[in-house]
Amino acid sequence: MEKITMEKMVNLCKQYGFIFQGSEIYDGLANTWDYGPLGSRLKNNVKDAWRKRFIQERPNAYEVDADILMHPRVWAASGHVASFTDRLTDCRECKTRHRADNLINDFSNSSIGDAMTNEEMINYINENKVPCPKCGKTNFTEIRQFKLMFETHRGVTEDAKSVVYLRPENAQGEYVNFLNVQRSMRAKLPFSIGQIGKAFRNEITPGNFTFRTIEFEQMEYQTFCKKGNDEELYNYFKEYGKKFYMDLGLPEEKLRFHDHEKLAHYAKAACDIEYLFPFGWGEVNGTHNRTDFDLTRHQEYSGRSMEYLDPETNEKYIPYIIESTYGLDRTILALLFDAYHEDELEDGTTREILSLHPYLAPYKVAVLPLVKKYHSEKALEVYNKLSKVFMTTYDETGNIGKRYRREDVIGTPFCITIDDETINNNTVTIRDRDTMEQITLNLDEVENYVKERIQF
Ligand code: GAP
Repeated sequence: MEKITMEKMVNLCKQYGFIFQGSEIYDGLANTWDYGPLGSRLKNNVKDAWRKRFIQERPNAYEVDADILMHPRVWAASGHVASFTDRLTDCRECKTRHRADNLINDFSNSSIGDAMTNEEMINYINENKVPCPKCGKTNFTEIRQFKLMFETHRGVTEDAKSVVYLRPENAQGEYVNFLNVQRSMRAKLPFSIGQIGKAFRNEITPGNFTFRTIEFEQMEYQTFCKKGNDEELYNYFKEYGKKFYMDLGLPEEKLRFHDHEKLAHYAKAACDIEYLFPFGWGEVNGTHNRTDFDLTRHQEYSGRSMEYLDPETNEKYIPYIIESTYGLDRTILALLFDAYHEDELEDGTTREILSLHPYLAPYKVAVLPLVKKYHSEKALEVYNKLSKVFMTTYDETGNIGKRYRREDVIGTPFCITIDDETINNNTVTIRDRDTMEQITLNLDEVENYVKERIQF
């Protein structure tokens, strides 16, 4: 099996309608990507899988869909206005811009850059002659703080009072609705609020395709609990996250935990799940013990009490929060890398396959008339019936072998061939993407057969 490079993945995604360069006809806008017809399906299927595991199958779990634009005080309370910045330096030679901590961490193969002051960083870079990754020279500017939040203005005047931010994370939409959800759902601790939505960050550093972009989607999940239950829930969600990725089809040996030594100002403990991408291990998920920091800050900044009245003990307290957050675009990138492979066949040809979990596959079924002239009428009848239940595609062009290959590379788990037997005996051949085995089924059995095999 051949290892697939990033360049090849970008090309495949474009060729088969998964992901396109954003604003491509204008030569693209850096670090933006548009999901095409198959990519959008895949994305929705990953969201549905997440909803199933996190909202539907977990007790006391509720989904919200908060607005992207929130009161600016939210971002003051969260700490983003004061400290959500990158420390950047420019190479004077080739005019590229870099995160100073990344330059140092990559050079030293450690995380020493994380805890340095700006002055310590520039001294380290000069003393150790840390090279520019682009041109190899060491001639950097002073380090400057760059704000990562996108700002915009509401109304007609562009003054400080009219500033609003594009949210850099989903979490705050869940925190500000803590009381609303708790009261409207009569929820008792521990309970969870989840949200899927866009987030925006003014990322300057290079992207690795959809791994680091300026607009991306998160599936975030906040579990509100009593202090004392937090550590158990933190460990539970670390494992639950790993299990979720394995259920989606990622192999255990390509997943690892990365416990943080340096913690964000709000966190008591933090751990990422990393996936082994072709460019190395990369974070796809984070589990954070955020303590009572967020709700305490919102109580302080909003003037509203965020206390929970415990019906069992009559105590009042501000709950702790265990956050479990999933980058949707990174999850999709990991799934695509993992699913794509090329098999050498006995006849010397190569078969390209996208072995996605059937639940995630953009199309579940392809309906293929064996001979267009004789079988297309019946095939369209079958297509119309199945497309009421599943995302179904129809293909009547080219020989049947080529059509199977076209479905293999976009991950369609089942191909149904319509031939004389279908017309005479109401039976079809159904071919499995991964094993290439074919079985004969009565047409009336097809729906249940597929349903059973695409479950998540
Ligand atoms: N609420 C916590 C939070 O936002 P984070 O680690 O900054 O934590 C959560 O982000 C997840 O969002 C990451 O694990 C990653 O998968 C995804 N993510 C973060 N920045 C991203 C970016 N620039 N492009 C794509 N995905 C990103």
